[in-house]
Order: sequence, then structure tokens, then C-alpha cells
Amino acid sequence: MNILVVGSGGREHAIVTQIARSPKADKIYCAPGNAGIAQLAECVPIGAMEFDALVTFAKEHDVQLTVVGMDDPLVGGIVDVFEAAGLRVFGPNKAAAILEGSKAFSKDLMKKYNIPTAAYENFTDPGEAIAYLKTARFPIVLKADGLALGKGVLICNNLQEAVAGVKTIMQDKKFGSAGNMMVVEEFLTGREVSVLSFVDGKTIRIMDSAQDHKRAYDGDEGPNTGGMGNFSPSPFYTEEVDEFCRKYIYQATVDAMAAEHRPFKGVIFFGLMLTEDGPRVLEYNARFGDPEAQVVLPRLKNDIIDVFEACIDGRLDEIELEFESDKAAVCVVLASDGYPVSYEKGFPISGLEAFDGKDDYYCFHAGTAFKDGQIVTNGGRVLGITAIGSDLKEARAKAYEATGWVSFDNKYMRTDIGHAIDEV
Ligand code: AMP
Ligand code: GLY
Repeated sequence: MNILVVGSGGREHAIVTQIARSPKADKIYCAPGNAGIAQLAECVPIGAMEFDALVTFAKEHDVQLTVVGMDDPLVGGIVDVFEAAGLRVFGPNKAAAILEGSKAFSKDLMKKYNIPTAAYENFTDPGEAIAYLKTARFPIVLKADGLALGKGVLICNNLQEAVAGVKTIMQDKKFGSAGNMMVVEEFLTGREVSVLSFVDGKTIRIMDSAQDHKRAYDGDEGPNTGGMGNFSPSPFYTEEVDEFCRKYIYQATVDAMAAEHRPFKGVIFFGLMLTEDGPRVLEYNARFGDPEAQVVLPRLKNDIIDVFEACIDGRLDEIELEFESDKAAVCVVLASDGYPVSYEKGFPISGLEAFDGKDDYYCFHAGTAFKDGQIVTNGGRVLGITAIGSDLKEARAKAYEATGWVSFDNKYMRTDIGHAIDEV
């Protein structure tokens, strides 16, 4: 079949890589894609938010399955537009993608259905938020309600910082309309784990866990980024944690969405904090994580097209997911120096051919483009270097070895991805 993937990052490169492994895949298209994806798929210059142009393209090119990787089009209702045009598409519709699109919605859902999460209050009025904060315990967490490129969360250590935060989110509207509403949330401590899952509206299948490194600098210091690297599985995601989450979080979330007449089909990403009192949901995303997809998908043994189709058709109960459980993966992101604040683009990248024909190594392109016949840097996160090993330490050593194979001006990476592995 012909397949269209919507998006342009490392996550979409990982999705396209899995699709290309399926004997069911004929022609693969990616809109808009990037220079790495172009090795496996035909990239088409249509933006992810151009829903009508994407539908027209899908119809004209006999696309039988569309897979949406990114949050913005999902929250904006791309699935509804495709379905209305009679096209098969993998991802939540607009009513379900609100699970990521509104943090106030997801907090209210968890409260109503007793899903473990941090205590919170929602506010639409900055004055009321400040009055509440005057009585609060610090540190405390402020979250813009809507999508904010992963930057709409502020951790405030005292009232002064919190008042400034309210101004940033609700009055200066630093994150635009995402700040029309704000969640004020209890500060939790513990280890963070990302768990991705496939969902068909009723049934949920859990993928191997991953652990992200969101901060820009070594030692988990500096500003939050989209993710500087990660590893899978997380050794901290124990059987006990898994049992708790299966009992109180995963199916409960799917059932809650169905009960709210918002049945969720697609990927639910559970951002969990493993606190002393047990796992708590920090956030939901309605899509694969980036770079979580780069360490989780390469070890998936199932034909991913079968899984996508089972989700669309509501028969995920017929599928058991299988991962290469005797292997682990580590991804180190090569970024442009200065990311996430400001950075230059357009530098030629050399050495990419070193990855050709090496099964255990992946060079996922996140922000690359073609310029004058060369592959050049085209974003803050440029490449995700992933290696597979027999355990996390071997995978990490291989991933760092491979970071040396490519070079470009202003190349920056964290040198301590996976440091938590040594604590086990
Ligand atoms: P989110 O976009 O909700 O994942 O938040 C971004 C990051 O902020 C998370 O990965 C955590 O590191 C941190 N965070 C979010 N909520 C809390 C919380 N309630 N307590 C402590 N840290 C939090
Ligand atoms: N790596 C975190 C995310 O995709 O939101």
C-alpha cells in the first residue's frame, strides 16, 4: 500500500524507518520530511498544517494509510479532515487529541476518574491565580493550558517567581493563546519515565519504557529542550511500577476518554513521575515522543503497519506487541550550538555515509535539508544518533562512538546521556 507520514523530525524518520521494513509498504511519502527521510520516502513540500492540500495529495496518489507524527496537526483536527474525506488515518481525532491539547482538560479527566496525578487548580483569571498562589506551598508548577512547544511549564521557587510566571503565561501571553488558561500544580519529585502506547479506542498495548534528558546541558542543567537524548528501556520502570500503572493509569485513561465520548485511537504518551508514593501522571501526549520514538521503535518486532491498522479498525486486542527484549537502545542528539535559545543553520554535514549498512546504528535526521546538492543543518536538533546494544551500557558506548562519525560546524551534544544507567 501507499503510505503518507506527516511531519519532519527525528520521530518521523523513526516511523518511516519502521514502515519501510514492512513488506506491505509500497510507496512511502512524507510531508514535508527532511534530508534523511528522503532516503526512504518521497518528500513532498506540503506543510503539516495544510490539511486540504494533504488530503488532495493523498487522494491523487492513492494513499491508503496516513500516519500523523506531530502534535499541532492532531490537536488542530487533521484526523477529522482526513476521515471526512474518506481516508484512513492513524492518530486521535480533535476531540481525543485534547488529551494533549489542553492540560486543564487532562487534569480534570484524571481527577474525575481517580487517575493518580499531582494536586492542581485551573485558572482563567490571573488575579485569582495570584490570590491562590499567596496561600500555596513552594516550589510550585505553572503550566500554560495549550501547546507551547514543550516550553509552557514554569517551576517557581517562591511567590515572587510565581507572580512573574502568571504574568508571563496569562498576561504577556508568551505562549500565545495556550496561556488563556493555566494549571497550577503541586511540585513532584522523583524519576521521570516516558511510556508510549498504542490505543484503538478500547484496548491499549504498552511499548517499552524510555527515559528522556530534557535539559540542554550536562548534569541536567540549563533550559528545557525538546529532548537531548534518551535510552530504552528504563531500568527504573520495574515490574512493580508496571503493575501499578496497568492497574491505575493506562486502561483507566482509555476508559475515561471513551466514557467522555472522546474515544482515543493512536498513540498515548504517558509522562510519568515515579514518586515515593508511586507513579503519577505528569502529562499526556497524543503522539510518539521525540526522541522517544528513536529508541523505542527500532526494537519493535511487529509489522508497524499491522499495528496502525488494528488501531484504526478497533481490533488491537488481536495484537501483542513484541520488542527485542534482550537489547537496549541509546540516542544522543547532535544539536546546533545555542539550541534551544538561538542558533545558526545551513552548515554542511559530512560523514553520514558511515552509517550505511550498519544494522545496530541509526542516524535519524531531525533538522536537515538539501542545499546546493549537500545535506545541511536546518534546525536546533539536527541528528539523533541511536545505537542498539546487548545492554544499556553497550548501547551508550556505541552511540557515543558514532557521534564522532559525523561533523558539522557548531555541533553540540550532551556528554552524559544515560548517566542514570550507572546508578543501577
Ligand atoms: P510537561 O510539559 O508537563 O511534561 O512538563 C515539562 C517538564 O516539567 C516535565 O518533564 C518535568 O520535568 C517538569 N514538571 C512538570 N510537571 C511537574 C510537577 N508537577 N512536578 C515537578 N516537575 C514537573
Ligand atoms: N521528548 C518529549 C516529547 O516528545 O514531548
